[in-house]
Amino acid sequence: MRLSPGGAPPRQGSITHVLGARPNFVKAAPVIKALADLGVEQRVVHTGQHYDERMSDIFFVQLGLPKPDVNLGVGSGSHATQTAEVMVGLEREFSENSPALLMLYGDVNSTVAAALAAAKLQVPLAHVEAGLRSFDNTMPEEINRRITDQLCDLLFVTSPEALGHLAREGRPADSMHLVGNPMIDTLVANLDKFDAVAAAAAYRLDGPYVVATLHRPANVDAPEVAAELVQALHQVAAELAVIIPLHPRGRATLTRAGLLDSPRVNVVDPLGYIEFMSLVRGAAAIVTDSGGVQEETTLLRVPCLTLRPNTERPITITSGSNQLVTRAQLAPAVLAAVAAGPYAGELPPLWDGHAGERIARITTAWLDADV
Ligand code: UD1
Ligand code: UDP
Repeated sequence: MRLSPGGAPPRQGSITHVLGARPNFVKAAPVIKALADLGVEQRVVHTGQHYDERMSDIFFVQLGLPKPDVNLGVGSGSHATQTAEVMVGLEREFSENSPALLMLYGDVNSTVAAALAAAKLQVPLAHVEAGLRSFDNTMPEEINRRITDQLCDLLFVTSPEALGHLAREGRPADSMHLVGNPMIDTLVANLDKFDAVAAAAAYRLDGPYVVATLHRPANVDAPEVAAELVQALHQVAAELAVIIPLHPRGRATLTRAGLLDSPRVNVVDPLGYIEFMSLVRGAAAIVTDSGGVQEETTLLRVPCLTLRPNTERPITITSGSNQLVTRAQLAPAVLAAVAAGPYAGELPPLWDGHAGERIARITTAWLDADV
C-alpha cells in the first residue's frame, strides 16, 4: 500500500508496522506519517491483541492511522498463547508480504512475538522505544523489551539513559539512535484539540479533580492488592473528585473490591485519545501505573503519582513531574503534589514533536545504504 500518492518516488522495498495494543497506536502514528511523507511504501499489520472499539478502532480514527492491511485477530489469552498466535500469524504474513524492514513499538506481547517471528526469517527489524529498563523481571514488559532489543538492527531511543542500557547488553553503538519520543509527537500534534474545560463539563467536574488509570497486573489482578488500592483511591476521593477511565483488565477485580462505592469516584469506560488527554490536561493530578501517561504528564507538567515500585522511564522523575508512590503514600502524596502545582523545570532532550521525522530519515537512509 502506498501511503503518499503523488509523493516522492518509491523506495527500495516496503516497511511493515506491527501494532497490537493501545500504546502502540499512539507511538506509531507520527512514524507512519513521516515515512509516508518520504514516499515510503508501508503496510500495517494489527495483531488484534486489543480489539474493543475503545481500545483500538477509536485510535485509528482519532490519530489518522491508516486502516490495517490485515488483522491477525489473536485476541486475549495467556502470555504463551498470545505470543505464539502472533508469531504464527506473522510467519504467514511474511511468506506473502516479506518487508524490507519491520517496525516495532514499545513492550507489549505483540512486539516481542513479532521480533521473534521476523528474526528467524531474516527480516530486518527496528524498535521504537528501545533500551527502556525497569530492571524488574516480574513485569512481563521487561522481558519483552530485553528480547526485542537483542533482535533489532535499528534501535530508536527516547531517553538518553537507554543508550547505556543497550550498550551494556552488547548492542552495537551504530544501531542506536536517540531520536526523541513519538508518543510526545502525537501529544504535540494534537495539543490544540485537548479541551480541558469541555472535558470537565462533560463529566460534571466543577472543581479540581484527579484522573486515575490502572491496569498493571501487579495492581489489579490480586483481590487483596485491589482492595488496598481501592481504599487508597477512596482516601484521595475524600479530598478531590476522581475520574477513572478503567482499562478492561481491572474492571472486574476493582469493582468487586468496592471501587464504585464512593460517590466521588467516577468510573467510566476507556476513553478515546482526545477525550482522555483533554481530561489529563485539566487535572490537578494524575494517579497511574501506565508507562505512556508518565511521559504525557511530564510534557503537560501535570503532577503524576505512579503506583509502582520502579519505572522504566526515570527521566519522567528527573526531568518531569512524576513520583513513585505506594498505596499507603498515595493520598498524602496527591495532596502535596496538588499543593506544589505544575512542574516548571527542564523537559527531556528532543521531546519536541519531531521524533517521527528523525526515525523516518534514519530508517530510509539505512534501507538505501543496505541495497
Ligand atoms: C497490555 C500490555 C501492557 C500495556 C497494556 C496497554 C502485554 C503483556 N501487556 O496489557 O504492557 O501496558 O496492554 O493497555 O502485552 N481486554 C478486553 N478488551 C480488549 C483488550 C483486552 O476486554 O480490547 C481484556 C481481556 O480480558 C484480556 C485483558 O484485558 O484478557 C488483558 O489484555 P492483554 O492484551 O493480555 O493485556 P493488557 O493488560 O491489556
Ligand atoms: N489512553 C487513552 N485513553 C485512556 C487511557 C489511555 O487514550 O482511557 C492513551 C494514553 O495516551 C496512554 C496510552 O493510551 O499514554 C497508552 O496507555 P496504556 O496505559 O494503556 O499503556 P502503557 O503506556 O502503560 O503501556
